[in-house]
Amino acid sequence: MNWQKMPPGFLWGTATSAHQVEGGNIHNDWWDFEQDSKRSGAASDFRNRFESDLDLARDLGTNSFRLSLEWSRIEPKHGQRCPMAIDYYHQLIDACLDKDLQPFVTLQQFTLPRWCADKGGWLNQETLTAFNKHVSWVADQFGDRVSHFVTINEPNVQAGASYLAGVFPPGRRLRPDLADRCQAALIKAHAQAYRTIHNNLEKRFPGRSVELGVSPHIVSWKKSHWDLGGIFKRIGEQFNWGFLDALSSGTIKFQTYREVAPEIQGCFDFVGMNYFMGMPANILGVLKFMGLIPKSSGEQSSDNGWPQDAPGFEQALLRAHNDYHKPIYVTENGIADASDRRRSKYLTDHLEALSRASGAGVDIRGYFHWSLMDNFEWHEGLQPRFGLYEVDYDSQERRPRRSAELYKGLIQKYSESYSKVGDHEL
Ligand code: BGC
Repeated sequence: MNWQKMPPGFLWGTATSAHQVEGGNIHNDWWDFEQDSKRSGAASDFRNRFESDLDLARDLGTNSFRLSLEWSRIEPKHGQRCPMAIDYYHQLIDACLDKDLQPFVTLQQFTLPRWCADKGGWLNQETLTAFNKHVSWVADQFGDRVSHFVTINEPNVQAGASYLAGVFPPGRRLRPDLADRCQAALIKAHAQAYRTIHNNLEKRFPGRSVELGVSPHIVSWKKSHWDLGGIFKRIGEQFNWGFLDALSSGTIKFQTYREVAPEIQGCFDFVGMNYFMGMPANILGVLKFMGLIPKSSGEQSSDNGWPQDAPGFEQALLRAHNDYHKPIYVTENGIADASDRRRSKYLTDHLEALSRASGAGVDIRGYFHWSLMDNFEWHEGLQPRFGLYEVDYDSQERRPRRSAELYKGLIQKYSESYSKVGDHEL
């Protein structure tokens, strides 16, 4: 086996997002969209437990923590910010730094303030203007302490789940035109945020360097006999790379939406990659991925039926490197596995793939496991368990799963400060 240590300064972390962990995010579109049996409610109560949860992250030996700022908590009404929320995020970011965890901050992960969503969400230009104002404010408030920002989490999922699968608000189905418009709007929102943050910080803190990127959801689409003419492979490729291709070339080329937009070109310092699974490139694979037909779980897949594919992860890293020539942060990777029977192999295989890609020359600078603890999994509710720590939602007690210890060991194995003692010691 050909593994190697990750370079000095590598960020090892766990990832979370506000609505999924904080609890009580009552001012966003998701709160209204959630169905009775699958409500986020108090989620993992991170809002009240972040100090001890960050201690758990530290116990893993991580040096970074991915969190998101909930725009609707900060600005529950248009133009009116909530001092308590602002105070909370200052405390949270300070707590990360006190505990030697570099905060890796996402600006938007799937939710919108109700006042934006009610007026058409990303399909309304006013949302872009308001988001840019918010982002500028974020730079002023936190830009002195945060060095890495993910602007938008999984714009490709957001557009597809909202306007094709209908499982995210506003719950529209089979509207490829709206999905494409939504993703085009997210590209512009991203590019604006990129420029705004860089410009603000250059003025306020000259010489301070921050990195901004975006995190699409990347699936390894496997060749299939049923993919006649390769159409599904092409759809899958566009799903994966369409956003980054647009930023690279300055041209948005979706099925139903084309635009030459020179202002977006080059607006990313790194590629964020959320990678979970491989899927056959055929109609069944696509429908399964969209959640429109049930997935089956088994030894080779997760509790929610996502097939494991570590070699596909390595390929995706190589491809992103070759196509974009930018540093890569793996911003999410993990498995829903309540019994923790499959997570160790998943983690071991994926970190080995990561290290192999790094050995092949891919500039990978960080890995964030999804997730620190169990949390609210959007339309699937609290059922899928992605945590290295199990959460008992009645008591909010956290218990480490066995994989937590394994991750800690793997971080040591792949870190520079750890001496190589053999291939299979973990
Ligand atoms: C999303 C997370 C989600 C994870 C597992 C990713 O697509 O970014 O919010 O929890 O998948 O479902």
